[in-house]
Amino acid sequence: MSDAAAPDQAIALCASADLQDGGLAVPFEVLYQGQHCRAFAVRYAGQVHAYLNRCAHVPMEMDYQENRFFDHSGHWLLCATHGATYAPDTGACVAGPCRGSLVKIALSESGGVVRWHTAKQLQPFEF
Ligand code: FES
Repeated sequence: MSDAAAPDQAIALCASADLQDGGLAVPFEVLYQGQHCRAFAVRYAGQVHAYLNRCAHVPMEMDYQENRFFDHSGHWLLCATHGATYAPDTGACVAGPCRGSLVKIALSESGGVVRWHTAKQLQPFEF
């Protein structure tokens, strides 16, 4: 087995217009450390951000309605289970029972397209 890491790839996720500030997330699927996980992308203060859909309290999915992670103010990401609250731009836990941060996934946006970037522990999930 080679130690050479596969080059990181940028994978098209959605159109820029699909992500509105403080609005619904766009979900996607990844392999994280070899495990199938759901992930989500949101827009906050004009910038796109993505995280594993896995709470830093108990590793459960967080959305309280499908693809809805923001609280009613549009400024915080919430976990539906016990109310952990995260900063949408960093994924850091700011309130509630979480410790640490959400697992961040690199995104880029150009030409009206949002792409997510693979990494050593983060690969596309093949159905
Ligand atoms: S599982 Fe998310 S706050 Fe407990």
